[in-house]
Amino acid sequence: MKRILTGDRPTGKLHIGHYFGSLQTRVKLQNSGEYEPFIEIADVQALTDNFNNPEKVRKNVREVAKDYLSVGIDPEKTTIFVQSMIPEIAELTVFYSNLVTIARLERNPTVKTEIAQKKDLFGESVTYGFLGYPVSQAADITAFEGEIIPVGEDQEPLIEQCREIVRKFNSIYGEGILKEPKAELSKSARIKGLDGNDKMGKSLGNAIYLSDSDDEITKKVMSAVTDPNRIRKDDIGNPDICMVYYYHKLFSNEEACKKCHKECMAGERGCVACKKELSNNIIEFLKPIKEKRAYYDAHPEEVDRILREGTEKARKVAKETMKKVKEAMMLNYFE
Ligand code: TRP
Repeated sequence: MKRILTGDRPTGKLHIGHYFGSLQTRVKLQNSGEYEPFIEIADVQALTDNFNNPEKVRKNVREVAKDYLSVGIDPEKTTIFVQSMIPEIAELTVFYSNLVTIARLERNPTVKTEIAQKKDLFGESVTYGFLGYPVSQAADITAFEGEIIPVGEDQEPLIEQCREIVRKFNSIYGEGILKEPKAELSKSARIKGLDGNDKMGKSLGNAIYLSDSDDEITKKVMSAVTDPNRIRKDDIGNPDICMVYYYHKLFSNEEACKKCHKECMAGERGCVACKKELSNNIIEFLKPIKEKRAYYDAHPEEVDRILREGTEKARKVAKETMKKVKEAMMLNYFE
């Protein structure tokens, strides 16, 4: 069976953008029974831009694990593991660092964009660790012989970088030692934030989290950006520039969406009522997810057990890869 590898940096809880962007796909692929999925909680990668905040990373490892479990990632089918507990990933990162130039990393579009966004943290000069995180991500993928990497567009350059490292490695140390992964681009568009920003994110304060309380959801929906030209209830509105309508399309049924669109354009629907309807639908949608999460909140020892067992299983695979790599690199001096 082909192995799928995905992962997230544990820098915050997961939100509905993650749900539509990647979690839903992971659950579907898991349940198809056609693959062997691994999910990495990338705490080492999270430290590359949160080295000054280890508490945040530590806390979010368990939060992200609970997010996975609550949306239907099943630890019987998917191996969930913690990156820092697999030392082979760090070892591979060192070996691969000889196979990639600094100029190539500086040209990586994902890294370039992120460095520009992180001026506050890095100032004029970025750390060696952050510049090199694509090398570490190549180690994540190849340690488990990940073949299919379902990602959003923003991650594609990282997979391409991994493929280059694999080809270089194999050309020097032996054809077929490392497996070349393939990116599988997610068809779902990136979900916009409540404020209309192209990206939903914690730092932007425009996200609805899978674990938000009903009151938080209602409050956030009430703050969503609507058509600015619509002031009174009977003003003619343009739902196509309204974030409330945008979310209706994700959370409300077709009939409700049509009704919303029509009434808004005719000035027959108030924004407050429209938002109320939407927040009720989001609350309803998240209900089973939150119920599952409440179970894991009450049983933290079970979350820890799942992470421990998943990590043990992943470690076995990584050790096998390491054995092959060390043989190929002539680093197998003694047992
Ligand atoms: N870079 C990914 C992100 O920020 C997380 C990640 C780490 C990852 N290792 C991975 C994704 C391996 C796919 C494969 O979301």
